[in-house]
Amino acid sequence: MMQKDYVSVLDAEDEFAELVQSALDLKKGCRSGETDEVLKGKTLALIFEKSSTRTRVSFEVAMNQLGGKSLFLNPQDMQLGRGETIPDTARTLSRYVDCIAYRASDHEMVLDLASNSSIPVINALDDLEHPCQALADIVTITERRTPRGLKLTYVGDGNNVCNSLLLACSLIGIDISVACPEGYEPDQGIVEDSKRLASRAGSTCDILRDPKEAVHESDVIYTDVWVSMGDEGEVKKRLEALSDYQVNSELVALASPDCLIMHCLPAHRGQEITGEVIDGPQSIVFDQAENRLHAQKALLLALLR
Ligand code: CP
Ligand code: NVA
Repeated sequence: MMQKDYVSVLDAEDEFAELVQSALDLKKGCRSGETDEVLKGKTLALIFEKSSTRTRVSFEVAMNQLGGKSLFLNPQDMQLGRGETIPDTARTLSRYVDCIAYRASDHEMVLDLASNSSIPVINALDDLEHPCQALADIVTITERRTPRGLKLTYVGDGNNVCNSLLLACSLIGIDISVACPEGYEPDQGIVEDSKRLASRAGSTCDILRDPKEAVHESDVIYTDVWVSMGDEGEVKKRLEALSDYQVNSELVALASPDCLIMHCLPAHRGQEITGEVIDGPQSIVFDQAENRLHAQKALLLALLR
């Protein structure tokens, strides 16, 4: 039985592998009609404080395909944007809808919403984690390879996507290393949790500096933007600090010959990744994007059915 909320990958520590399998099954039986009406009468509220293409659309389509409804709420149009508190918003929405997906600037705000809601709250990205992305990423890797024992290298900014990926890989038994410059490491608490999970799964979790050394024999290279939403005030500093961490053909040539290339999107071609690599034959970035839909269907069914 899942916990009430999915704010962190850790909230699905015991169910993660099951969710991955469920997403793969849902993808295979996509047109079978077996889940068409299963969430009939249920409503998902989507509160997004930041822009989104994939997360918003995949949640809305997931609810539609499962027979439920979704309600997109711009905080600026809500009383939340005029200072109504998160706890009061949580208590009110809990009386109307069955689940809330929240994209927030601050992890504490998602925790606050979850702890004051009587309904499940899903983290649709915050400054610390992007757990829905990590679930879809493991689904995408599992479609191609047996995950346990694979070597994945995340190159670049140790951000929200990196944090959730660390937890997810370490839960599943994928060896993960993060190559990042000093000052751009993933969250320390998350690294500690990931090391604990990795040692239980018999895998490894390392923070390294040199991207060339890190990608040696990698089965998967993963990257994300150098300037996340909310970091716009640091553009110059970040582009300088991360300039040696671009995923380009020279770097990819140092990994395993059939190394897969992953990126959560949106991408900045010419910054963290070159156009040649993201549009090349080893890239599976649009499978990742597609799998957001199947992964979130699995999650919604686990939380709402
Ligand atoms: N990967 C991801 O979450 O994309 P969006 O910002 O478009 O939702
Ligand atoms: N790290 C990025 C991910 C976007 C999906 C951001 O937070 O903007």
